[in-house]
Amino acid sequence: MAEKNNTISVEEIEKQNKYMELIRKENDLFEAENGVRRRAFILTLGCQQNEADSEKLSGMASKMGYDIVYEPDEASLIIVNTCAIREHAEQRALSLVGQYKHIKARNPDLKIVMCGCMVVQEHRIQDIKMKYPYVDILFGTSSLHRFPSLLYEKMEKGKRIFYRDEKEYAVAEGLPIRRENRFKAWVSVMYGCNNFCSYCIVPYVRGRERSRKMEEVVKEIRELVNSGYKDITLLGQNVNSYGKDLGLSYDFADLLFEIDKIDGDYLIHFMTSHPKDASKKLIDVMSVSKHIARHFHLPMQAGSDRVLKVMNRRYDFEKYMGIVEYIREKMPECVITSDIIVGFPSESDDEFEMTLDALKKVRFDMIYSFIYSPRKGTPAAEMEEQISTDEKKRRMDKLLKVQNEISLEHNKEMVGKTVRVLCDGLSKNNDSVYSGRTEGGKIVFFDGELCDTGRFLNIKIERADTFALYGNKID
Ligand code: 5AD
Ligand code: SF4
Repeated sequence: MAEKNNTISVEEIEKQNKYMELIRKENDLFEAENGVRRRAFILTLGCQQNEADSEKLSGMASKMGYDIVYEPDEASLIIVNTCAIREHAEQRALSLVGQYKHIKARNPDLKIVMCGCMVVQEHRIQDIKMKYPYVDILFGTSSLHRFPSLLYEKMEKGKRIFYRDEKEYAVAEGLPIRRENRFKAWVSVMYGCNNFCSYCIVPYVRGRERSRKMEEVVKEIRELVNSGYKDITLLGQNVNSYGKDLGLSYDFADLLFEIDKIDGDYLIHFMTSHPKDASKKLIDVMSVSKHIARHFHLPMQAGSDRVLKVMNRRYDFEKYMGIVEYIREKMPECVITSDIIVGFPSESDDEFEMTLDALKKVRFDMIYSFIYSPRKGTPAAEMEEQISTDEKKRRMDKLLKVQNEISLEHNKEMVGKTVRVLCDGLSKNNDSVYSGRTEGGKIVFFDGELCDTGRFLNIKIERADTFALYGNKID
């Protein structure tokens, strides 16, 4: 069977390269006239997929001659890469952009760009058009690769640009990437989602599933490993359906199998897996692999079968538990984490209690828990039986209490053991202590030295609390 072509043409990427060149020349001229280089500041909200997209925006901005800075005040280019998953993320983006108005008043040279999931929604586009006149360029998740040509058009013509073309949803290969970390990297293996969970905005703002070709992914990872990257996270909204859209016979387990053949000292993580199609084959491949981290992030969302059905998750708790049991049978040491939503419309007290029971049965190492946030245009937002904010908060407190106890018990089991930890460097909150992550993603604090950063260390765990492990280096 012929492989489907879902990739943006080489000619289109070449065209964007030319625009990058043109802007670079303008920016060089600016430097010659003003004695300083133009600077770009990129603000990223939301998930790892957005972080990965921002590294591409940053790569393109660098190639266009901007110095990347981490404060907006001095920037000539501000890019806000937005998120739409919950209302809070949208409000944050709007309030931050509101603050940039003052920077623009001081510096008319400043261009403000908004992109990402929030600005694909028609009501938000209209909002920004009317209420944020200082936003110069807006483009959606399908048009990331067009950033150079849109910026060039704005520089030449001066008019505001609102670019949106959902027909363009495709895979862009060959964009420059400026990675934020020199030993940890994101690699998208697929984009978009076909699942339409009834609470979720993602399928509406990121389009249908499209996978990168296996050889492209393997090539990128080989290059990363060869240049010293130690921890690589494969990204996709539902990695378990990797490859299906390409119409070929390989799947995500085959991709992991191929990646694992790459020689070197590195770990591969992946997220996110959908329980409806997390296969035994995938778990089998992980269990015999050398480099795939023993960590499974498997969003459960709720413990009640009725709620799961209304969420359109297409599994029940029994099926979910079956996957967990198989993971533990094949990899007893595997860390299992999850996402949980509390206060989904119509969730009764008893159904919420089923989520608590499920936590006690599964015993996750850690969960990411979310208060349900209605998203305009999704079926769940239209449901009549919305839960009050107070009740949602009450459920959240209860959920955290149950999970925190379980997390603490798991962490305490680590005391006395020696674990392999990738050192992230000096801890952000306490600059006399170093921190790192175990294979399963648990944070560990220890006395380290500068040269430990980016290295795997053996740490003997001496103490544990709910959120972290504490230990000492072992030679
Ligand atoms: N409200 C609350 N949480 C949500 N998530 C997705 N959509 C919503 C929403 N509308 C959560 C899910 C998902 C995680 C990334 O975000 O748990 O797995
Ligand atoms: Fe949203 Fe469900 Fe797709 Fe995840 S699988 S991105 S929760 S629709």
